[in-house]
Amino acid sequence: MDEQKPVGDLTTDFDILDPDYNLDPAPTWRDMRERCPIAHTEHWGGAWVATKYDDIQALVKKTPVLSNRQPTVFPLDDGKDPMADYFADLMPPLTKDPPEHSPLKRLLLPFFSMKAVEAHRSFTEQLCNELIDGFIENGACDAAEDYARQISPRVIGHLLGIEPGQSDQFVEWVQGFVELGASNFELRSKSYRALRGFLDDEIAKRREDPGDDYISRLIASELDGEPVPDITILNMCMLLLVAGVDTTWSSIGSSLLHFASHPNDRQRLVAEPELLGSAVEEMLRLHSPASAGRIAMDDVEHNGITFERGERLIMSLPSANRDPAIFENPDEADIGRERNRHVAFGVGIHRCVGSNLARLEMEVALKAWFARIPEFELSDPDAVTWSAGQVRGARTVPVKF
Ligand code: HEM
Repeated sequence: MDEQKPVGDLTTDFDILDPDYNLDPAPTWRDMRERCPIAHTEHWGGAWVATKYDDIQALVKKTPVLSNRQPTVFPLDDGKDPMADYFADLMPPLTKDPPEHSPLKRLLLPFFSMKAVEAHRSFTEQLCNELIDGFIENGACDAAEDYARQISPRVIGHLLGIEPGQSDQFVEWVQGFVELGASNFELRSKSYRALRGFLDDEIAKRREDPGDDYISRLIASELDGEPVPDITILNMCMLLLVAGVDTTWSSIGSSLLHFASHPNDRQRLVAEPELLGSAVEEMLRLHSPASAGRIAMDDVEHNGITFERGERLIMSLPSANRDPAIFENPDEADIGRERNRHVAFGVGIHRCVGSNLARLEMEVALKAWFARIPEFELSDPDAVTWSAGQVRGARTVPVKF
């Protein structure tokens, strides 16, 4: 299919880090879905890019031949064979394929059931209110930096039993690994090593002095009838940080940016607070932060295209969530949208473990904010910035109130 070859424009030579694309990706997604729904790009090691909802639903089922050992949109480690088994062990269960995937996922699921995450609501409420206390008197703040960014690392730190004072360090490493490091292998490896060293020490501490945090509970769990190896616990903790920090922070920041720049939606949520749940879902759909990655372990055919062995695939969940074949007025927000089968949390066997926690954090963060700051707007729209890459979210949102 000739039209699916790279032709050097943004729609078919997609660069997830292109600044113009990143500022306003919706036109590119629209164009790709219409002209070239499964495109190929030479950027970042080369990859196929799927942009339509139905294609992504079909592609996630092609496991394990479309393997999760490369779940990132950039190759996981420069210089190594990207199909090596080494990668499958890095962040279980995300990097594992069937049959190893299920038992590992089962270890985590009970920690993130609706009931289990409810236990963290009051910690999250208190945290959000303390953050608001810190800036409410100023009549202005950066809603992404001073608020959204501060929430998810502290909640996950709390789940893992990590001292609250170390959350900032967490964010720096996680950001270095998954975000800033995307185009900088040195920073990525440095941040990755720092995180691993830190978690290694935490696991050793919990062996000496167990609590009821998730690290202690993983230490007390069994995998295939045996104690869970320390290396698996460490890799799972790495995954929780990498998967749960900047995704959720992005969603909270993008939601506040949306309400600061869409007064009708803001006023509607103030007038109809019962819409909070559907507003959260709509923000997840419209401003989905995460894309997913796969690698072909053998030639895979899909709709007349062959992903050759060793080729990577990016699944643009944000684009799928704007697919007009599925969503009415896909580029518009409707915070009361009733039918909203978005795929912000992925689909198939790797669907997000932490979706209940992410929803709780978003709900609590928006509720606490709207209760105390119902009227707010952007103080400098030109100063708004977004992160680029696998996780896209608002990073600078200057507001006044
Ligand atoms: C708005 C916030 C979040 C979004 C948009 C999100 C999105 C996703 C997506 C798209 C996947 C699937 C990736 C793939 O198919 O390769 C995923 C998997 C995962 N997420 Fe999340 N996530 C969020 C928050 C969280 C949180 C808070 C946690 C936990 C603390 C978490 C833990 C995980 C884990 C462990 C997996 C791997 C599941 C598996 O492989 O079976 N996520 N997430």
